[in-house]
Amino acid sequence: MQKPDFNIEEVNKIIRGRRSMFVAQFKENDPIDDIIIEEMLENARWAPTHKLTQPWRFIVYKGEGLKTFGKYQADMYKMRAEKNGTPFLEATYNKFIENPQKASHVIAILMKRSEGIPLMEEISAVAMAVQNMYLTASAHGLAAYWGTGGPTFWPEAREDFGLEGEDMLMGFFYVAKPAVENWPVGKRDNMDEKVAWITE
Ligand SMILES: Cc1cc2nc3c(=O)[nH]c(=O)nc-3n(C[C@H](O)[C@H](O)[C@H](O)COP(=O)(O)O)c2cc1C
Repeated sequence: MQKPDFNIEEVNKIIRGRRSMFVAQFKENDPIDDIIIEEMLENARWAPTHKLTQPWRFIVYKGEGLKTFGKYQADMYKMRAEKNGTPFLEATYNKFIENPQKASHVIAILMKRSEGIPLMEEISAVAMAVQNMYLTASAHGLAAYWGTGGPTFWPEAREDFGLEGEDMLMGFFYVAKPAVENWPVGKRDNMDEKVAWITE
C-alpha cells in the first residue's frame, strides 16, 4: 500500500481542537444523520488493538431507543435505591429519563474481554476507539462527550448488557448537534510537569 498523504496540520488541529460538549449544550429534536454515526463507528474500528482482539462493542440508541434507555436507567436507579438504600432524588430520576432524549444518539461503550492479554490492554484499546469517535464527532462540529454515569458501574446492569467475567460497560457516548455557536475552550496543564526526558 502506498504511504497515505497525511496532513499533520489538520491532525494537530483536530486533536487539539476536539472538545466535549454536554447535554446542556445539545440541540434537541434535531437528529444527526446515521451516516455520521456509522462513520464514527468505522473510525472506532481502526483503533490499535493488541493481538487484534478488537474488544470494543457498541450499542447505539436512537429515536424511541433513547426513551427505552432513559426509562431503563431511571428504573434501575430507583430499584437500587429501594434495594441497596442508595440515595434517591426525584430530580436525578427525571434526568436519567430526559437526558438521553436530549441527545441525537447515545452509544453504550462495552469491552468484551479476550484471553491472552492483560485487562489493561483491552480497556486501553476501547478507550482509543472512543477517542476516534470523539475526533470524528468534533471534526463534524458535533457536540459529544463520554459519560460514565448511570448504569456504567451498576452490577445490576451487567447481565442486561450481556457482560460476563471481566467484560465491562465503560460508559456512554452522547452525541448531538450543538445548540451553541461557540466552541468550548480547552484546559490542560503544561506538559513540562508530566514528561521526563532521559538523555544520557
Ligand atoms: C473515561 C472518561 C470518562 C468521562 N466521564 C465523564 C462523565 O461521567 N461526566 C462528564 O461530564 N464528563 C466525562 N468525561 C469527559 C470529561 O469531562 C472531558 O473530557 C474533560 O472535561 C476535558 O474536556 P475536553 O474533552 O473538552 O478536552 C469523561 C472522559 C473520559 C475520558
